[in-house]
Amino acid sequence: MRRSSEGGDAPVICVDGPGGSGKGVLAGALAEKLGWRCLDSGVLYRAVAALASAAGAGLDDEAALARLAQGMDAETEGGRLLLNGTDRTADIRQEQVAKAASAVARHPAVRQAVLRQQRNARRAPGLVADGRDMGTVVFPDAELKIFLDASAEERARRRHKQLRSNGMRVSFHKVLADIRERDGRDSRRAASPLRPAEDAVIIDSTEMTIAEVLDRALALVGQRRLSKGGA
Ligand code: DC
Repeated sequence: MRRSSEGGDAPVICVDGPGGSGKGVLAGALAEKLGWRCLDSGVLYRAVAALASAAGAGLDDEAALARLAQGMDAETEGGRLLLNGTDRTADIRQEQVAKAASAVARHPAVRQAVLRQQRNARRAPGLVADGRDMGTVVFPDAELKIFLDASAEERARRRHKQLRSNGMRVSFHKVLADIRERDGRDSRRAASPLRPAEDAVIIDSTEMTIAEVLDRALALVGQRRLSKGGA
């Protein structure tokens, strides 16, 4: 099987999908079950957005954004971010950073800078990577590719509930509008748009619980003999 020239040859499971589909939760649960590392690639784009805001770089300034992406020291694990030595986890979860991350991620030079960092996360015993283009661009030779989808309304409902439980007052309609805007930008961009890989298994989680999604994913892991312990 062909392997990427950067990164190792450890097995990879990709979990791609739109914002709010639950891919982060699924990727984290799979990584824990298998004892593998987990890469939340959205955190890297959020990190570039946070650096751009601090540096006063415009979201259209591809060269400046690419320089920030190349020079950043971003350590990510389980959705946490240590950016140039500082814990920025709480900052990057803000909705405006999500929006800016989507704008930053349009630029091919930024994606190129982030690519190496993503492939470096591929280490034994294995990697579960979540994002938009893990299966199409970053790890095309992954052993298993899952595309996790859900209706925009259901994703907005989940995000709204999460924001409210974090004490944020925001209307459901605003959350839904933001989700639709981000979906549009992530799917229509020319560079690595959000779409399922041809060999991805599509799971629509609109009417599924987290436990049901995890069971379905673990069944796929079992079929492809990716777990030593028979998860
Ligand atoms: O998954 P997330 O919400 O943290 O991602 C934030 C933004 O980053 C998302 O709107 C698009 C971009 N992104 C991307 O373009 N490619 C990825 N692999 C992951 C995220």
